[in-house]
Amino acid sequence: MEKYFSLWSNPRFSEIIPHVMQQDLSKILINTTTIFARLDELATEITEFYKGQELTVLCLMSGSLMFGADLLRRIPLPLRIICLSVSSYHGGTSTTGQVTFHQALPDLDGRHVLIIDDILDTGLTLTTLREKLLAECKPLSTKVCVLLRKDIGRERSTDAEYVGFDIANEFVVGYGLDFQEKYRNLPFIGVLRGEVAAL
Ligand code: IMP
Ligand code: MG
Repeated sequence: MEKYFSLWSNPRFSEIIPHVMQQDLSKILINTTTIFARLDELATEITEFYKGQELTVLCLMSGSLMFGADLLRRIPLPLRIICLSVSSYHGGTSTTGQVTFHQALPDLDGRHVLIIDDILDTGLTLTTLREKLLAECKPLSTKVCVLLRKDIGRERSTDAEYVGFDIANEFVVGYGLDFQEKYRNLPFIGVLRGEVAAL
């Protein structure tokens, strides 16, 4: 029994996505059905934890666009949702070591804050944001929820409380994740071919 239909198998969708995208990927790593089933589990866990409390969600753009939208509509709590534009990659496949905040931080004084991001790679983005929040915003609590966590042996202090999937150290795209701003609208997560990333 297929609970979730696959957007990719929808002919209208495959007309919209150019064929070349399929050629740019070495494989589909996580399909839509698997993503949605895991979102159900994550949403249940988060709802249970924050039940009866006010929660502010910070969605880091643009990577968490799909993940945030699909996860948050599964959480039946009164949420305050804020999108923040933060970047650390600037178009390549490895971090620049610098995190850029494109706008001022919102008022988070005395609030429970859940940060939502697409992927935990080096952890630089999330660690920098968390430190900035604690230094400048006085939140009551901060937790991090990521769709993906790369297996790169980072320090324990740089981690997320909620993780969708643990993956190998490969460059992935789709379901919000990009390479040079492309592939975000793929409804699944795929591995980018090395040749494409090297271009
Ligand atoms: P970090 O600061 O090194 O943890 O990197 C976080 C950001 O880098 C993520 O929010 C993504 O935008 C980007 N990133 C890291 N790994 C990947 C990947 O495999 N595919 C696409 N973007 C990635
Ligand atoms: Mg990116």
